[in-house]
Parts: sequence; structure tokens; C-alpha cells
Amino acid sequence: MIYLKNDEQIGLMRKANQIVKNALELAEELVKPGITTEFLNERLHALIVKEGAYPSFLNYEGYPKSICTSIDEEVVHGIPSAKRFLEEGSIISVDVGAVKDGFHGDAARTFAVGKISAEKQNLIDVTRQSFFEAAKIIKEGVRLGDVGHAIDSYVRSFGYSTVKVMVGHGIGKEMHEMPDVPNYGVPGKGLRLLAGMTIAIEPMVNMGVYQVKFLPDGWTCVTADGKPSAHYENTLAVTKDGCDILSL
Ligand code: MF3
Ligand code: CO
Repeated sequence: MIYLKNDEQIGLMRKANQIVKNALELAEELVKPGITTEFLNERLHALIVKEGAYPSFLNYEGYPKSICTSIDEEVVHGIPSAKRFLEEGSIISVDVGAVKDGFHGDAARTFAVGKISAEKQNLIDVTRQSFFEAAKIIKEGVRLGDVGHAIDSYVRSFGYSTVKVMVGHGIGKEMHEMPDVPNYGVPGKGLRLLAGMTIAIEPMVNMGVYQVKFLPDGWTCVTADGKPSAHYENTLAVTKDGCDILSL
């Protein structure tokens, strides 16, 4: 079932997403060599709660923390730890969800830890831009195959690859609603978007191969070749003539 949202519901989703945005801006300020990923988790948890929301990842299918922190070859769903210290030259993807007044927000960014290589900076930049390559074509009537192709073709033009086994998603009263929103696709194929659909588009981009594996903790997704990966995600509402990005 795909639930279309009215203007009032989209307004509530914007509020949840603005809290997520504020948390990500705090993460950007805090990220530096020597801090732990648990420190980020605690500080972002406190901000979300202070703003009257709940961190929707906490206890989600047993997930033990309030945010995900994924470093270098970790793609997504890295678990914050007091034993994990950020090191100069790493990149860290921070994924945040918040639910307020019954509606969810979900967004992610990848940040540099101190000075990073030009290659890693390019991976971050291409991942972010791949989201906007999708956002700029989105409006009512566009198909999910077009959206996924816009992301994947842009990413491939740099020799990078998009992760296939994890996808973006509908979002609203639940963090994960229908439809799935893959970061690849065949133009002209797939579901047609309608005004009022709210979706999280979240390219996960690997510098090397697209294949991933999961660590024994059952959550952390890493690249199969050990090369770095970046993540960029926003929640948006589809409109008649474009889209309204709720987490910017
Ligand atoms: N933002 C992630 C997604 O869209 C959700 C992570 S849920 C967690 O898939 F529980 F793993 F944190
Ligand atoms: Co998401």
C-alpha cells in the first residue's frame, strides 16, 4: 500500500525532517579526529529528544543505537561504539531518523574527518550530486526506473557503483513504507510517481565494486572489496511539477 500525504501531513513530515537536518548539522560540527562514534550518538540522541521527537532507529528491529555511523568501507548501518575513534583521513556516513507527531524523517550525509584524499572527497561529492540528479527529474508521472537510472548513470560515469541490495523507500507514518526506491533502474519502467508520495532517496555509492557483505554484528554493511563508500539521503514529497525536499 502506498499512502499519499496531504499538505497537513507533509507539514508534519517537514517538522520531523528539520529535526533530522539539525542533528546532521550538529554531527558535521562534531566530527573530528579523536571523538568516538558513541559521542556522536549521544549528542544527536539528546538533540532529537530535546526537540520533542524520538530517534526512530533506536530499537528498530533490535537496532541498539539512535543513529548509524559508517566509516570508510562501511556502507551503512554501522553501530556507534565508545571504542571506535575517528581518525584523520577517514570519511564517516551519519544516518539519522526522527519521528514526531506520528510522522518520520530520515536523512544521511557523509563527512570528512580532518583532511581527506581528493579521491574520497570526489566520492562524497558524486554521491551527493547523484541524489540531485534524481531530484531534478522528479515530478508526478516520472517512473522509479527513471529515478534509479538518473542516480546510477551519473555514478557510473565516474567509475563508481551503486549498492543494489539496499534501496530507498517510501516514508510517512512508518519509517519504511512502499515503494522501494532503487538506486538503479531502467528508463521508462517501474511505478509512476504521484503528487503526495513521500519517499527517502538514498544513494549508497562505492568507489569500487557494488557488492557488499555484512559483519557478524548483523548490521554493519561493508564493501566486498574494502574500498570506501559514501551515503547521501533526503526525504522528499513528490509534487505536480517537481519535488519538495523536506530534510534540507
Ligand atoms: N535510514 C535507514 C534506512 O533507510 C534506516 C536504518 S534503521 C537502523 O534503511 F535501525 F538500522 F538504524
Ligand atoms: Co532511509
